Amino acid sequence: MRFQTVCFFIFVTSAFGADVDNETLVTFPDGFLLGAATASYQVEGGWDADGKGVNIWDTLTHERPQLVVDHSSGDVADDSYHLYTEDVKLLKNMGAQVYRFSISWARILPEGHDNIVNQAGIDYYNNLINLLLDNGIQPLVTMYHWDLPQKLQDLGGWPNRVLATYSENYARILFKNFGDRVKFWITFNEPLTFMDAYTSDTGMAPSINAPGIADYLTAHTVILAHANIYRMYEREFKEEQQGKVGIALNIQWCQPETSDDVDACDRYYQFNFGIFAHPILSEEGDYPSVVKERVDAISAQEGFTTSRLPKFTSEEVTFIKGTYDFMGHNFYTAVMGREGVEGGSPSRSRDSGMIQFLDPSWPESASSWLRVVPWGFRNTLNRIANEYGNPPIFITENGFSDYGGLNDTNRVLYYTEHLKEMLKAIHIDGVNVIGYTAWSLVDNFEWLRGYSERFGIHEVNFNDPSRPRTPKESAKVLTEIFQTRKIPDRFLD
Ligand SMILES: *[C@@H]1O[C@H](CO)[C@@H](O)[C@H](O)[C@H]1NC(C)=O
Ligand SMILES: *[C@@H]1O[C@H](CO)[C@@H](O)[C@H](O)[C@H]1NC(C)=O
Repeated sequence: MRFQTVCFFIFVTSAFGADVDNETLVTFPDGFLLGAATASYQVEGGWDADGKGVNIWDTLTHERPQLVVDHSSGDVADDSYHLYTEDVKLLKNMGAQVYRFSISWARILPEGHDNIVNQAGIDYYNNLINLLLDNGIQPLVTMYHWDLPQKLQDLGGWPNRVLATYSENYARILFKNFGDRVKFWITFNEPLTFMDAYTSDTGMAPSINAPGIADYLTAHTVILAHANIYRMYEREFKEEQQGKVGIALNIQWCQPETSDDVDACDRYYQFNFGIFAHPILSEEGDYPSVVKERVDAISAQEGFTTSRLPKFTSEEVTFIKGTYDFMGHNFYTAVMGREGVEGGSPSRSRDSGMIQFLDPSWPESASSWLRVVPWGFRNTLNRIANEYGNPPIFITENGFSDYGGLNDTNRVLYYTEHLKEMLKAIHIDGVNVIGYTAWSLVDNFEWLRGYSERFGIHEVNFNDPSRPRTPKESAKVLTEIFQTRKIPDRFLD
């Protein structure tokens, strides 16, 4: 029993039955890591510098520029390949404790394979990691944030299961070279997003149109690759390096339109999140049963002799289960869900049997898919905690898009409201959230939206060759939050 000497505080009762005072409720727990995030193709530039190989985003932006709304590319982007010292300065000025960045596979292994290692690439990330550590900032490293070496795409890309082995070989090079200093690793960022890069020929790279087939094949390879990497780290590095390995999964909160649509949202969750989380984080392992049953049945109805959903062997189910030390979670927004069928035949959307739409009352951003629904964040965290035995969760992305400008009032509100919901999940609901990196440290190349939608907390002038970075209002508020480790009073109701 805790003594409550400050009697004017308001107390709420937490999941543990303990009372939480309103001061604690807006304060980050001890040891909670705060920082910001980027990804290689979106910020680095130097697309052909010093021996880097070509990746699928180089190919898409050079060969099909019309797929990018402003016909732009990440050839130079923020030029972080040359200006990484500027990025570290921004982090240092904010009081960030952690920087999440990703490694460009083709910068390390230009041909995709581990027979040829590009020393200039190793040197670049060594310099970045060392500078971060010199400034008291922990690196949180993503191994794969969508920039597959073109040579591996030429073999079919993620639908080809051989990539589960090639990924392991790439990861070994990273552990060998950086694992003495990097203690947080993310194997894959948002496999949900890059499985969909194989469902449309106007979509993300590699922009291949094989819905309902290549997306499941991609998921299958990526789950095996993740498990291979995790087990290899356990066997070869963990004892000495003592790092943690996880995967970053994204999901949007699904709000049922009526009480009859609860199952529909449940299926949406299983087809988009459970498909990765269940094999890795659940006690039973394997794909969620609703996914297996529906894809098998609908495949048969469609005349396929073989289900479009590949199968794990029971050895694989055991091998994959439990391959996490923490899970990364990217959260942005919510959708509304209704029972019904939409999407072509075959497609994952059709398999899931849900119609997806947006509530027009949810505030907009610059991105058509991103509405501001902070309460969805707390709900999602609770769902993950309940479904998978409350694993340690690192919020690896969360952010808001606008069209640019330093006075980004809506982004400030997005961050303060989402952080408040996350703190409720931690303090009231008992969800085990261990860190948070805001997306993104700097304005950058927003994939098919080019530079038209801005997610940065620092503005970058892309017309100036020196790519100057300027803090927006949101960077200033996050600086205050990182330094005081609480939500400032003026943002409390
Ligand atoms: C906590 O609640 C008390 C009583 O309503 C109020 O005076 C105080 O300002 C609150 N503190 C915070 C951090 O909200
Ligand atoms: C920023 O924008 C908000 C809302 O649009 C406005 O109230 C505020 O005065 C602006 N601040 C500055 C420094 O321009």
